[in-house]
Amino acid sequence: ARVVVVYGGMSAEREVSLKSGAAILAALKRQGVEAVGYDPKEDGLIGLERLAPTTVFVALHGRGGEDGTLQGALELLGLPYTGSGVLASALGMDKQRTKQVWQAVGLPTPESVMLSDTSDWSAVVAQLGLPMMVKPVHEGSTLGISIVKSQEALEAAYQEASQYDARVMAERFVVGDEYTVALLDNDVLPAIRVEVPGGFYDYEAKYITNTTQYHLPSGLSADDEQFLATLCKQAFAAVGGEGWGRIDVMRDADGKFWLIEVNTVPGMTDHSLVPQAAAFAGIDFDQLVMRILQTANK
Ligand code: DAL
Ligand code: MG
Repeated sequence: ARVVVVYGGMSAEREVSLKSGAAILAALKRQGVEAVGYDPKEDGLIGLERLAPTTVFVALHGRGGEDGTLQGALELLGLPYTGSGVLASALGMDKQRTKQVWQAVGLPTPESVMLSDTSDWSAVVAQLGLPMMVKPVHEGSTLGISIVKSQEALEAAYQEASQYDARVMAERFVVGDEYTVALLDNDVLPAIRVEVPGGFYDYEAKYITNTTQYHLPSGLSADDEQFLATLCKQAFAAVGGEGWGRIDVMRDADGKFWLIEVNTVPGMTDHSLVPQAAAFAGIDFDQLVMRILQTANK
């Protein structure tokens, strides 16, 4: 059996994926699994087929890997792969349509509107209030995202986000605490509260600085933790998520939870959240990787 860890790729999250993939590959080898890494930037699908995988471990983040395109190709090649299938992968990569699905099934997610060159900025401010978030619809790792505090800043934030994606949305900003919840098979791992001095969990805070604080246990009451776990399970199921994933959530000052997004291939770097939540639940990194690998054969 040969496991091919697909990592790197062409998305803006390439650097993150290279780190996730290297950590996964090392863990598989430590566990005695015959595994090789493959960066599709080299030779696309043809190069992958040439390696004759028995299973593909998907460690690509962002477009061209986390977004259903690779999953579709692997389906056609008849190769088992880790994590979510075509639909959930494609949906999870689209933050706005994910929200539409959650809304349709009655799950809480902050209101949003799509922006364009012809948006009426004052109407957007009137609808969502300030501050608001501006996000490329298809990007990960907070790339291209801004918190907008004035109407004047809104158009600039839109232009910035447009550099990452043709589709840009504005979202009501939830003032409160940030949580993230990992799903592994049928288990929900303990919630992490993410606290960033300065207040914004951006690319810097995610991967570069060491000042971000990860609170485990989260500080939620047992009832709230249970409620959040159930909410995240429902949110993952609503988009058709499979195997493993991570849901990002905000909790407002009244204690209400708001679903922000789903990640179908969450980061697995040494700064990443899922490995921390797993460790807290008594699942070390190598065990986590083996459990994710097993999701390929379901
Ligand atoms: N998109 C990054 C890798 C994450 O969600 O962890
Ligand atoms: Mg994301």
